[in-house]
Amino acid sequence: MKSELLAVLNEAYPEYVSGEKLSILLHCSRTAVWKHIKNLQEEGYQIKAVRNKGYLLESSPSLYSGHAVASRLIKGNLPYQIRFYPELLSTQNEAQRLAMEGAEEGTVVIADKQTKGRGRLGREWESSMGTGLAVSLILKPDVPAYKAPQLTLVAAVSVVKAIEQITGVKAEIKWPNDLLIEGKKVCGILTEMQADPDRIKSVIVGIGLNVNETVFPEHLHHIAASLSGFADSPPERAQLAAAVLNQFAEDYELYKQSGFAGVKAEWESYSCTLGRKIQVRQNGSYINGTAEAVDSQGVLKLRDKDGILHSIVSGDIEI
Ligand code: BTN
Repeated sequence: MKSELLAVLNEAYPEYVSGEKLSILLHCSRTAVWKHIKNLQEEGYQIKAVRNKGYLLESSPSLYSGHAVASRLIKGNLPYQIRFYPELLSTQNEAQRLAMEGAEEGTVVIADKQTKGRGRLGREWESSMGTGLAVSLILKPDVPAYKAPQLTLVAAVSVVKAIEQITGVKAEIKWPNDLLIEGKKVCGILTEMQADPDRIKSVIVGIGLNVNETVFPEHLHHIAASLSGFADSPPERAQLAAAVLNQFAEDYELYKQSGFAGVKAEWESYSCTLGRKIQVRQNGSYINGTAEAVDSQGVLKLRDKDGILHSIVSGDIEI
């Protein structure tokens, strides 16, 4: 019955199907139709019921589309506009193109698949399977350009919280841009800026989250993992994307009010970097020491064996 009902609603989309028509097609009473609709709604199907029109299937839990994400967004301070693409080279490139054309803050580029996703430091980001999240968000914060990297840290906090809301799984933040679960990378964040000498024109925050991948390229076997490997059931990408955006809208508001200091305590609570012995690679040279703190600007403080405190603004770290 469930799949027949869904098939009729899917077929009719974007039109409504009346309760009467459903009861005839499915050979049951209109009350039975209503009960099945309620069950489906409880399973996460978004079905709109309108008197005198009938039922409209707005999104299915397994459907990944712009509408499936947008219909789960909470109207808040950041007016999101979702641009969903079945396939792109890179959501980051598309967001940059849109930003140059004057796209507004809150424009979000999402791709089901990326064929040339980009990571930090010119690395590749593998997400061509249609199983992960590839999201790039256009922001126009009123802050000096040197503060733009702080948005990586804010987004990391938002993604950790969204992952926990949807799956119950706890991820940790490896400064500055990785999220790890049980030591394996599940998410990377790439923040890029377009700026004039005196002001930021736009910041693009790109989030790549491994959700349901089961195979990784050989060189990533020991370092990467998917959220589904830790969750009780396979997470839905539309639900996750919406949770990330809803959470980010809240955290970004805090950031605009109080800067990185507004989310610092949360960042620290999710960090797997602080208190650990780490190695930082900066411009080809290495510094070893203990990650002591992040300051109110998101700068990592590293104490070396001679007791000298280094301020690490950017770089790659090994734990
Ligand atoms: C990293 O860990 O090096 C950062 C990876 C960032 C990947 C995301 S996926 C969405 C957006 N589009 C891209 O091409 N890259 C970012």
